[in-house]
Amino acid sequence: MTEPVTFIIFGATGHLSRTKLIPALAHVLEDRDMGSHAVIGIGSKPRAHDDFRSFVEESLATSAVDAAARTRFLNGAFAYHAVTSDDSYRVLAESVARVESEKGLPGNRILYLAVPPSQLDTTVRGISATGLDTGGGWTRIVVEKPFGKDLATAVASNAAIHETFSENQVYRIDHYLGKETVRNLLVFRFTNSLFEQTWNRRHIESVEITVAESAGLDGRAAYFDESGAVRDMVQNHLTQILTLIAMEPPVTMDARSIHIEKVKVLASVRPIEENDAVLGRYTAGTIDGEQVSGYLDEPDVPNDSITPTFAALRINVDNWRWHGVPFYLRTGKRMSQRATEVTVRYLRPPICLFHEDGACQGHQNTLTLRLQPDEGFELLFDVKQPGPGTAIRQIPLAVSYGEVLETAHDAYETLLAEVIDGDQTLFVSSEEVESAWGLYDSLLDRSDVNAYAAGTDGPESAQRVITTYPGDWAAI
Ligand code: BG6
Repeated sequence: MTEPVTFIIFGATGHLSRTKLIPALAHVLEDRDMGSHAVIGIGSKPRAHDDFRSFVEESLATSAVDAAARTRFLNGAFAYHAVTSDDSYRVLAESVARVESEKGLPGNRILYLAVPPSQLDTTVRGISATGLDTGGGWTRIVVEKPFGKDLATAVASNAAIHETFSENQVYRIDHYLGKETVRNLLVFRFTNSLFEQTWNRRHIESVEITVAESAGLDGRAAYFDESGAVRDMVQNHLTQILTLIAMEPPVTMDARSIHIEKVKVLASVRPIEENDAVLGRYTAGTIDGEQVSGYLDEPDVPNDSITPTFAALRINVDNWRWHGVPFYLRTGKRMSQRATEVTVRYLRPPICLFHEDGACQGHQNTLTLRLQPDEGFELLFDVKQPGPGTAIRQIPLAVSYGEVLETAHDAYETLLAEVIDGDQTLFVSSEEVESAWGLYDSLLDRSDVNAYAAGTDGPESAQRVITTYPGDWAAI
């Protein structure tokens, strides 16, 4: 049985809380057989405690949480507070202490900040000024992405947090790090010596990382228009995948050793120049047979917006292992389909001995790690086409997770469980988040954004980012 915890959620009635956080919390508490708990929700608008409880009930009703878990979760203590002034933090702190004492909770607190970056510093100061950070047990603070909106704001937020919390109390979320297939990247690399021996510039020509989405804004226009593809996806999710693919083996698998290796990758990235990146924005198009509007016609998007919904980049990791191997990163909304993939292209043999059917041009071993959906891997390799002559054919060696492994866990459940256990391995360190922003600062204010039709895989000009092979990005 895990120790009882008080969950204090800022931004508790937002989209993330309703769709991900609350269902994941209910699941984890059930899985962990946790004793009593309390959930205190905080938002900017006044609400009755019972209203918040109904909100939680509704969010569980549409989730996969089963009836038993739902009831058990709802049997815990729930309270709601609106924070609008300094004084409301004081009222909140008193109420948390009261709930803990009534329920006999030991004061282990998880402060979950699902608030926009602009509210982070004020929230942390409110917590600190009223002693919410000390409940008599341990306290951990979880901060949702995006952490900052550029390097300067990320540095300021880290400083504000560190005034009250030590780094080992801070859990910066990137939910991709909680995905099974992303967690598998280090296992794949560091347990399969077949791959690790060849995971370097002597064998690999290039690496592509694609996070394509067919979805649009999902009602989050106000947030997205302030962010755009670089802040929303590249600085965090794609960069996390990049570091896991490129990092050296850590000394041990503990959080500190892994964070050190990830930061070393970021420190090796050559400054991104204008030609290394192409930005895009979708116009109207068709996805799965349905007509969808262009970005500028989406509700709540200003029609003079310059926000990119797509980014393609060439990243050069200038270290001993990767010098000369480009990492191509690509992400976009309203693309032809949803697919997160890493494609590793191996170098061709030095001399081509088989000339029939243009075999020398096309073929190279290609490893694709499919992170979602249809999780699995595929290795393309050449075989002789049966029959006369020596025509070469490329065939896949493919594994689908669904056929051989259990269904993957939800990322938020994994991450919440790690916070409860006090393990920071799957979270982003302060140094890491600042290094990641440092890479992309030059892209944040660019206004050269190229059009692509919804349902395609980005603007034509994104091809120019690729310099190692003629033609296209890997098909998704
Ligand atoms: C979020 C972004 O972090 O990740 C969203 O803010 C994006 O814009 C989402 O749609 C993608 O997550 P997933 O898990 O669906 O790949």
